[in-house]
Amino acid sequence: MTEERSTELIFISFTLLLGNVVAALNCTSPTPEALFDALNDSLFTKNQIRPVKTFSHPVNISVSITLVGILGVDEKSQILTTVLWQVLQWNIEGLSWDKEECGTSRVSVLRGNIWVPDIEIAEFMEEDKSPQAPYVYLYNTGLVYDDKPVRVVSSCRLVIYTFPFDIQNCSLTFGSYLHFASDISVFPDITAEETLQQSRHVLQTNGEWELTNITIAHSTLVLDVGSYSEIKYFIILRRRPLLYVVNLLLPSCFLITLDLFSFLLPPQSVDRSSFKMTLILGYTVFLLIMNDLLPVTGETTPLINIFFSISLALMVASLLETVFITNIQISSSQYSPVPRWLSVLVLQYLAVVVCIPPKKKTNRVTVFFNRSTGDPTLNSSVPVGELQSLSNTGPNIKYTDRDLALEELKKLSRDLLAIRLQMDKHFLGNNTSEEWQMIGVVIDRLLFGLYIVFITVSFVTIICIWVYSNFNVT
Ligand SMILES: *[C@@H]1O[C@H](CO)[C@@H](O)[C@H](O)[C@H]1NC(C)=O
Ligand SMILES: *[C@@H]1O[C@H](CO)[C@@H](O)[C@H](O)[C@H]1NC(C)=O
Ligand SMILES: *[C@@H]1O[C@H](CO)[C@@H](O)[C@H](O)[C@H]1NC(C)=O
Ligand SMILES: *[C@@H]1O[C@H](CO)[C@@H](O)[C@H](O)[C@H]1NC(C)=O
Ligand SMILES: *[C@@H]1O[C@H](CO)[C@@H](O)[C@H](O)[C@H]1NC(C)=O
Ligand SMILES: *[C@@H]1O[C@H](CO)[C@@H](O)[C@H](O)[C@H]1NC(C)=O
Ligand SMILES: *[C@@H]1O[C@H](CO)[C@@H](O)[C@H](O)[C@H]1NC(C)=O
Ligand SMILES: *[C@@H]1O[C@H](CO)[C@@H](O)[C@H](O)[C@H]1NC(C)=O
Ligand SMILES: *[C@@H]1O[C@H](CO)[C@@H](O)[C@H](O)[C@H]1NC(C)=O
Repeated sequence: MTEERSTELIFISFTLLLGNVVAALNCTSPTPEALFDALNDSLFTKNQIRPVKTFSHPVNISVSITLVGILGVDEKSQILTTVLWQVLQWNIEGLSWDKEECGTSRVSVLRGNIWVPDIEIAEFMEEDKSPQAPYVYLYNTGLVYDDKPVRVVSSCRLVIYTFPFDIQNCSLTFGSYLHFASDISVFPDITAEETLQQSRHVLQTNGEWELTNITIAHSTLVLDVGSYSEIKYFIILRRRPLLYVVNLLLPSCFLITLDLFSFLLPPQSVDRSSFKMTLILGYTVFLLIMNDLLPVTGETTPLINIFFSISLALMVASLLETVFITNIQISSSQYSPVPRWLSVLVLQYLAVVVCIPPKKKTNRVTVFFNRSTGDPTLNSSVPVGELQSLSNTGPNIKYTDRDLALEELKKLSRDLLAIRLQMDKHFLGNNTSEEWQMIGVVIDRLLFGLYIVFITVSFVTIICIWVYSNFNVT
């Protein structure tokens, strides 16, 4: 029983061994026909068998790619389209022929005639539309050289936060879709530097994208069912920002600078508000036209959109402020006095922030003081002095005339008092309107400062990001 079993086992393993081994070829003559016949007899009939001597041997497949074209990056659907030359090489164990006997060291055979591995790119999003390459090279050492173009539409997580200075890191994962690592294992054939150099050499259509670096990671993916051998190529791409700088950032900066300098126009004139209004209109139209250039993803908002929003917000704020100031200039004398908190906040704190000394206030205090001291009862001495001079001019006139004059002077005094009260009232109105105007000036200055700070910060940020992204590459 055991004997029978063991002979059976030996027989099975022997047939398996024989079935998988391709013997050395014997060509009858050094012609293509002879070689083809030999191949037809010993190799082509076994195109379903993994070309190894025993099942425990994995087929070692070396992978190398050359990036030939970067066709497009679609931020919305997060897709990268590239064209690669993909070279796979593996050995058919046992296959060999003599170069002299068969007349050549390599021959091209149809892909369907031999076993080919199912190496796929894991990130594939669309079927391969690249031209078909029907042949592979077969060498007399048993090496199979499979070179074909692949148009890869791969998913890639695109991060556009720093648009247009963004750098993308997209991976292409090569591995067998079905076979475990014990059956097919993949290796990188050439180093990342060589891949990068070759790709740079042949890269033609890259549009706005620049190939920055390629790195390779060779790993084994372990799942419940088994482990898979895979190679990850990380393709680092950098956007060329010049187009966007010229078309988006510079015009925007120009418009903002224009708006900044419009603060030099006198705020009370209507010119300033209409000027700003025109600017806002222009900016809106500009954004509308340039909207196509901006990338869209649901995930993150690019920094540049925030920049545009803040720019627009500043423009609108400055227009509102101009309207406010114009209103103050024209009709603030009818306003109720400035609320205490507003006056303290704006004239005492913000005025210091924007470096306007609160000197007008002391002036007002003087006016106020003059009014309080100018009590009519106290100043009755002045008419008395004039009364004496009056009496001196007319010696005939005695008591009755003097009473009359006194009466006249009292009337005059009352009139003067009325005039004075009127003046005080006028000054009071002056005071509140002046205070409102001060507030307007302070807010004007504050917004001007904010503008300068924003423009400086955004310029510095843009330049920093630009320099950083350039520096990162080299
Ligand atoms: C080729 O010839 C050698 C000896 O000359 C022989 O051992 C071998 O089996 C032959 N191969 C085939 C495929 O016939
Ligand atoms: C290849 O071999 C098969 C069977 O071994 C045979 O039927 C076929 O005619 C051969 N092809 C050529 C072109 O000789
Ligand atoms: C494949 O590679 C492994 C390790 O690199 C080696 O041990 C094995 O012999 C190779 N197999 C073949 C068929 O070349
Ligand atoms: C690209 O991404 C991979 C994985 O996310 C990471 O390991 C690698 O360092 C990244 N490369 C660069 C240059 O950022
Ligand atoms: C590419 O990336 C590798 C690893 O991050 C780094 O060592 C190498 O210097 C980079 N090459 C270039 C040209 O930036
Ligand atoms: C009243 O105001 C005038 C000028 O504003 C000033 O010269 C004068 O000293 C003031 N009078 C008093 C009593 O403060
Ligand atoms: C009238 O006013 C002056 C200051 O303006 C003051 O010095 C004087 O004492 C006042 N007259 C009387 C009678 O008090
Ligand atoms: C002018 O305004 C100041 C500050 O609010 C106030 O103290 C002063 O009494 C005002 N002057 C008048 C004449 O109302
Ligand atoms: C009051 O306003 C008028 C102009 O409206 C100005 O000429 C005058 O100097 C102001 N008075 C004070 C005390 O500021």
